[in-house]
Amino acid sequence: MCGIIGYIGNKNIVPLLLNGLKKLEYRGYDSAGICIVSNNRLHLVKKKGEISQLAKNPELNEINGNIGIAHTRWATHGEPNKINAHPHFDCKKEIAIVHNGIIENYHALKELLEKEGHKIVSDTDSEIVAHLVEKFYSGNLENAVIKALKCVEGAFGLAIINNSEEKIIVARRGSPLIIGIGKNEMFVASDVAAILNHTKKVIYLHDNEIAVITKQDYSIKNLEGKQIDKKICEIKWTVDQIEKGGFKHFMLKEIFEQSNVIKNTLRGRIKDSKIKLTLNLNTNLINRIIITACGTSWHAALIGKHIIEKIAEIPVEVDYASEFRYRNPIIKENDLIIAISQSGETADTIAAVKEAKSKRTKTISIINVVGSTIAREVDSGVYLHAGPEIGVASTKAFTCQIVSLLLLALFIRQEKGLRLDKKILQELSILPKKIKQVLKKSDEIRKVAEKFKDSKNFLYLGRGINFPVALEGALKLKEISYIHAEGYPAAEMKHGPIALIDENMPVVFVSPKDHTYEKILNNMEEIKARKGRIIAVINEEDEKLNKVAEDIFRVPKTRAELSPIINIISLQLLAYHIADLKGIDVDKPRNLAKSVTVE
Ligand code: F6R
Repeated sequence: MCGIIGYIGNKNIVPLLLNGLKKLEYRGYDSAGICIVSNNRLHLVKKKGEISQLAKNPELNEINGNIGIAHTRWATHGEPNKINAHPHFDCKKEIAIVHNGIIENYHALKELLEKEGHKIVSDTDSEIVAHLVEKFYSGNLENAVIKALKCVEGAFGLAIINNSEEKIIVARRGSPLIIGIGKNEMFVASDVAAILNHTKKVIYLHDNEIAVITKQDYSIKNLEGKQIDKKICEIKWTVDQIEKGGFKHFMLKEIFEQSNVIKNTLRGRIKDSKIKLTLNLNTNLINRIIITACGTSWHAALIGKHIIEKIAEIPVEVDYASEFRYRNPIIKENDLIIAISQSGETADTIAAVKEAKSKRTKTISIINVVGSTIAREVDSGVYLHAGPEIGVASTKAFTCQIVSLLLLALFIRQEKGLRLDKKILQELSILPKKIKQVLKKSDEIRKVAEKFKDSKNFLYLGRGINFPVALEGALKLKEISYIHAEGYPAAEMKHGPIALIDENMPVVFVSPKDHTYEKILNNMEEIKARKGRIIAVINEEDEKLNKVAEDIFRVPKTRAELSPIINIISLQLLAYHIADLKGIDVDKPRNLAKSVTVE
């Protein structure tokens, strides 16, 4: 949420910062800005709208320098406009800051600063930081930032420069920040994507750490002033992975990547019919599992409940991280908490993990972004290895999360000394092939999308392990096409939503041939009797449901535990094509941003 990049070095700074911002655009795109130090002056250019708007600004051609910070915004406090765009200045325009996160006590600080004569021009919480640093500045930017941050409550990822010191100060609490190490140059960023084409050597800042970055060096302390030695990490992602690779949108590229990235999730984890995971767990001691997550990851958690209960034979509860963290949940000694998150930076999920840890429970994570906050907080975890997910709507992370949950369930079963069903391992090995078969239907699905793109509402129905697929299908559609969509357990439909059915209502059924099949057929007939328009995801050999449905997506049959993966892909494609046909920029859906790092 919001993207930060900063640079200190000899390269042509404006294009470097603009390119970095472009790579971060998925974190927010309502306004953007750049500030560069040149001839002991801070040059600021800001613009409402996407980075392409900022890049068109002729003023940028006239600026050069060796130090700069830039930001792309997802508004929290203050509407998206030029004044509220970052970077923000102090009164004298000698200090500039970019900020991710939320300063919670900003009203009190604003009042105080205004009483002291500071003129605050924006409606943002962030600008306060620039004025606080100004208040404490007496010739040393680092000291002023430390003093300022002692007054601040809330979350921040900050990069700060001034007109007279050749350095960038960065600080973190709750909002991710990394330092990129180059030769005679350094980078700061909220995300590796911004700097990957310059360096793969990074340092992850932890909470309450502050770093002073010069062209050749960096030094990191905690906010108490204690020097900290940090490990330099090597990023494994490649530049190609953060490009669109010929696809119209990142989302489409990531949908199509699924057959391959699932192989990465599986790689090295099944050997001689044994599951190899490095988890710090005594599986015999687990009485109950609680999975906590948000959004799409929460849908994966619901599927995980079915898989773990069936395979590992342990009861599972699933909780929204935002609810779990505030409910004072009852957690017992032998409970295991699993946090699922693509980014590993979702504020609510981080807080849920901290809540669990405060009760001394074992925590593990299922995360995509290596080195992210949640991955560091938990006792141990499973990485997805799905590669960077840039499309705002999560796709490949979801399917890799399901595969990881299955591996975890099998691992627990194995460690408990129970026999593993070899057939499921065989099925996992042919899953990528089956995914490819679904992806081949993309053009066919687009034709159905064309028919339904102007619908105002959609209902998605599924049962059992595929009920969360209905939820996820509906979420994908609403977030990128802005069509209202709801997911329901198919049998619940007659307890209320059936009142919505008429000839204008498309109803998407997720209906594989499993033990729920005959029941789903009945549910379809109920919709058909009321003239609802049925689109059904069915198995290839199914010759019954195609007679009831108006449109069908035939997908290969697989084991029940893997069917959500096969089924969701056609619904991801349906949502994608509807949004694209409506002319929406699928990678930048309104009001959304990847990685929700604020509460
Ligand atoms: C939906 C989507 C969001 C995320 C949610 C959690 O397409 O992307 O609902 O799933 O914000 O994000 P992570 O998984 O990064 O914790």
